[in-house]
Amino acid sequence: MQILVTAGPTWEAIDPVRYLGNRSSGKMGYAIAAGAAARGHGVLLVSGPVALPAPDGAEVVRVEGAAEMFDAVAERIGGCDAAVMAAAVADFTPARPAGQKIKKGTGGLTLELVPTRDILASAREIFGFKGLLVGFAAETENLRENALGKMARKGCDLVVGNDVSRADIGFGSDDNEVSIFAADGSERAVGRRPKAEVAAAILDEVEARVPAAI
Ligand code: CTP
Repeated sequence: MQILVTAGPTWEAIDPVRYLGNRSSGKMGYAIAAGAAARGHGVLLVSGPVALPAPDGAEVVRVEGAAEMFDAVAERIGGCDAAVMAAAVADFTPARPAGQKIKKGTGGLTLELVPTRDILASAREIFGFKGLLVGFAAETENLRENALGKMARKGCDLVVGNDVSRADIGFGSDDNEVSIFAADGSERAVGRRPKAEVAAAILDEVEARVPAAI
């Protein structure tokens, strides 16, 4: 199958030298891309700024901001059988990024932020994507309820929920612990393990639901 994966954070420009970012390392999305390529799938990895090498066998499209990631996905998702949106996309971006470096001056600084577009929610609604759609739900509380809500709102077949309030797993860590919720009502708890193994569990769930998966 052909699988699109988004990974990493986005950087939202404030001026030419500053940005708003987040703590995503990209490791989970890169592990999924690497695992899918190793299984013989065609992989298109749309990646925000991370310090990771391109996974063997994956085609990597590097982007910076949420708008650029949106466009990269919009352009490429059509030919894919599955899409796994693991990126930590910024929900807000500066309304008017400054063309020149903002000088310190003497007073404070107020940034006006505007919402970004939701790439995952756009898959069905705007891109008309018919393939298997996988979202992530990074939560600090009510994991199950929030994950199921995101699944319904964003038209996902699977949602991978993880508890980002825990310091020992998740952001930046080499391990993760997740629950994989499916729209068909099934639920699979994947206890703490290396992200490569969590990726394998996610890919098993994807392959089980994509007809004629290779
Ligand atoms: N996502 C996306 N585009 C955005 C925001 C989020 O594609 N602009 C995707 C993420 O890649 C992830 C999922 O949506 O697969 C859930 O992201 P999350 O940040 O947990 O949820 P939000 O939709 O931002 O909701 P909330 O802030 O209420 O938790």
